[in-house]
Amino acid sequence: MELIDSKDSDKGASTVLRAVSLVRSFCVGSSDIEVLRGMSLEISRSERLFLCGASGAGKSTLLYTLAGLERPDSGSVEIDGQSLYSLSAAQQTKFRNEKIGYVFQNYFLLPDLTALENVSLPALIKGSEKTFLRAAELLEQVGLGDRLNHRPTELSGGEQQRVAIARSLINDPQILFADEPTGNLDSSTEGALMETLMDLVSEKQKTLIVVTHDSKLASLGDRQLTLADGRIIA
Ligand SMILES: Nc1ncnc2c1ncn2[C@@H]1O[C@H](COP(=O)(O)OP(=O)(O)O)[C@@H](O)[C@H]1O
Ligand SMILES: [Mg+2]
Repeated sequence: MELIDSKDSDKGASTVLRAVSLVRSFCVGSSDIEVLRGMSLEISRSERLFLCGASGAGKSTLLYTLAGLERPDSGSVEIDGQSLYSLSAAQQTKFRNEKIGYVFQNYFLLPDLTALENVSLPALIKGSEKTFLRAAELLEQVGLGDRLNHRPTELSGGEQQRVAIARSLINDPQILFADEPTGNLDSSTEGALMETLMDLVSEKQKTLIVVTHDSKLASLGDRQLTLADGRIIA
């Protein structure tokens, strides 16, 4: 609910995600690697944020943690004022399903389902009759209006990722997370896909958080943060 007049709203009112002092380490063999060493960040509504950093810098770990997919050792994540990790597992799943869209580097499409069915799946759980229509509309918007009944193996990598982007938007989430969405694509496909993604989130006024190790891509966003040594350095 937005009751605050824009001229009265302070910075906090437009914050859609707030992460405070996130710490996460992994035990490998006999040693602990501290991947997140107390990371804090705030993201505004409709902002397009790019997270950069070398391979192994902790980008995926941070994204998973922000999206409620992996609990941190300590620290908190608030989305729309709701503290994610104080919800029960079932509440967390429901909250994620309603508020969050996620695009993985490897698409994660179900091979036996068509494009239309893959996109519809996250919403079919709720049983809406309009789901297929909405899925078809989204596939149209990502440029696959003529591929509704194709299975993933009948689509190129770029097309599969377009299906994954359409799927991530089916429940009309507030925040879209994308982890190296073009990491498996050649550079011309990459450019076209990023353009589609950026246009879609701008048009639908979504908040977008994209992980990339490509600083050229990162300049497409409103803001860019770089991770190194478990911290945000820029
Ligand atoms: N489940 C895990 N178990 C052990 N180590 C992990 C696990 N997930 C990530 N790591 C380690 O954490 C570090 C950061 O990983 P990641 O977040 O995937 O980095 P990035 O996405 O920036 O490449 C790496 O050293 C990685 O090996
Ligand atoms: Mg990664």
